[in-house]
Order: sequence, then structure tokens, then C-alpha cells
Amino acid sequence: MKTWEVSGRTRLVGVIGDPVEHTVSPAMHNDAFRALGLDYLYVPFRVGKADLASAVHGIRSLGMRGVNVTIPHKMEIIQHLDRVDPLAAEIGAVNVVVSDDGILTGYNTDAEGFLNVLMEHDVEPEGKNVVILGAGGAARAIAFALADRGANLIMLNRTPSNAARCAADVSKATGQKVEVLALDNRRLADAMERGHVLVNTTSVGMYPSKDDSLVPAELIRPHFVVADIVYNPHRTRLLADAEKAGARTINGLEMLIWQGALAFEKWTGKKAPVGIMRRGAVRALKSYEK
Ligand code: ATR
Repeated sequence: MKTWEVSGRTRLVGVIGDPVEHTVSPAMHNDAFRALGLDYLYVPFRVGKADLASAVHGIRSLGMRGVNVTIPHKMEIIQHLDRVDPLAAEIGAVNVVVSDDGILTGYNTDAEGFLNVLMEHDVEPEGKNVVILGAGGAARAIAFALADRGANLIMLNRTPSNAARCAADVSKATGQKVEVLALDNRRLADAMERGHVLVNTTSVGMYPSKDDSLVPAELIRPHFVVADIVYNPHRTRLLADAEKAGARTINGLEMLIWQGALAFEKWTGKKAPVGIMRRGAVRALKSYEK
């Protein structure tokens, strides 16, 4: 097998975010580049909020092909780009940037990635009552994708004003009504009583606070599909409780892999080798869990 090494022609991509210490994206993308014989390299860049504008200039000046964008920049980055894809503009969040000779275009693959995962699990959003916990950048993409497919959304958030803003934007773009509730156990119980699908879009349950969950286990019933965007640990407390209750579960790694696969296709123009990306992500996650 021909070995690969960085050369003067290697195209650079990466992720900008803070923190990035536990990212599995480099393993996922570099495995895919090597498998397809593509001369690309993926590197994580820790970029704090104060450095976002100069980091975006760096994409242009270093001649990078693009980046993934993660916490806390998904919304803030929009103002620094040359173009924003209409879907990403409606969602109000960008997780992929493509540079065409220094012209930067922002896309959102979180929404389509989430729908791909639902399809893999045979979950049809239309007419379902979906309980969404959180109202940040990830929640926006997920809420938009679900509402666009005809789901009824009940959004609960610690800070109801953030959810009200998110819900108004999603309603305006999709024409679907989005109910907003403050996140407390009484309101959550009411929402779960009416729900079919539950999606946690908050960071609650993420390593190192892996015993935390926003949802009392007794509220989860067997007919539920429960999805968690947290992927470290792989099986969060919420997903473990859902399994015990007999519900179906979708873990955060699946959503991460699909948004990554769609980003890969935007940078390279090639079909993403999803199985290889999944194995790379799982290997990287295991190495962090050691
Ligand atoms: P992202 O862009 O990745 O979605 P974010 O914008 O920081 O990240 O959003 C995090 C979401 O998780 C928010 O809805 C946040 O609630 P607030 O709007 O009240 O800040 C929610 N969140 C984070 N930590 C939480 C906690 N300990 N309990 C409840 N909600 C939490």
C-alpha cells in the first residue's frame, strides 16, 4: 500500500471550537481521507470567542479548504462569512465552512445529519410530538429539521427566553407551532405525557458529569424514541435510563458521524465512507475513555 505523507499539495481542513480536546472528528475524517486516497489533513484548532474573527481570516490566508465549527461559535461565525447557504441562514447556525479560493460559505449539516439518523432508525417525524431539551445552536438545527418534516415541538429550556427566540425563528421558517416551557420536573412530566420522541440537545450528561440527566427515569415510557447529542460517554445516563424503560435510543455519535459525512462531501466532492468514519470515531472515543 502506498504510504501517505503531508506534502506541499496537501489540503488542510479542521475544526474550530473551544474546547476541542476530546474531539473525535480528526480520526473520523483522516481515516476517510486515507481510505479514499485523498491528499487532505484534518486538524483541531482551539479558538476562544475573542479569536474567532482572526481565525476566520486564517482560513483564507492559510489557504485552508474549510472547517467544522463547534461550541461556542456556530451562531457567531455567520457574520464573518462571505456567503451563507439559505438553510443555514434560516437555522441561524453554521457547522461547516467551505473555502473556494478564499470565498467562505457557511452550511449547516447538523439538520440533515439528524434526519439521516432518524431515517436509519425508521423514525418518521411527521405528526409526532417531540420534546426537545435545550435551545442552543444544536437545538436550532434539530428543531428546524423536525418542524420542517411536520413534527409538533415542545421545547423546554433552563432559560425560557432563549427557547422563545429559537421557537419563534423555527416557527417563522417552517410554519409549525413550537410550544415553549420552562425546564422543571412538573412541566417536563406534562410534556413527556404527550410526547413520542425526546431529544436532549444540552451538554448535561457529558463527561465528566456522566451521572447527570435532566429527565427523571420514571417519565420515560416504552413507546419513546430517546436521542442524546452527547457522545462522550457513548451511553449517557439518559440513554441508559431509556433502555431500562424499554424505549429505543439514538446516541450522539451517530449524529456526529452523519454531520461529518455531509461536511466531508462538501469539502471533497466525494461520497463519504460512512462505515470507515464510524470506526474512526469509535476508536478515538475509546482512546479518550481509557
Ligand atoms: P450548542 O450551540 O452546542 O447547542 P449552547 O448554545 O451552549 O450549545 O447551548 C447549550 C444549551 O444547553 C442551552 O439551551 C442551555 O440552556 P440555557 O439557554 O439556559 O443556557 C442548555 N444547558 C446547558 N447546561 C445546562 C444545565 N446544566 N441545565 C439545563 N440546561 C443546560
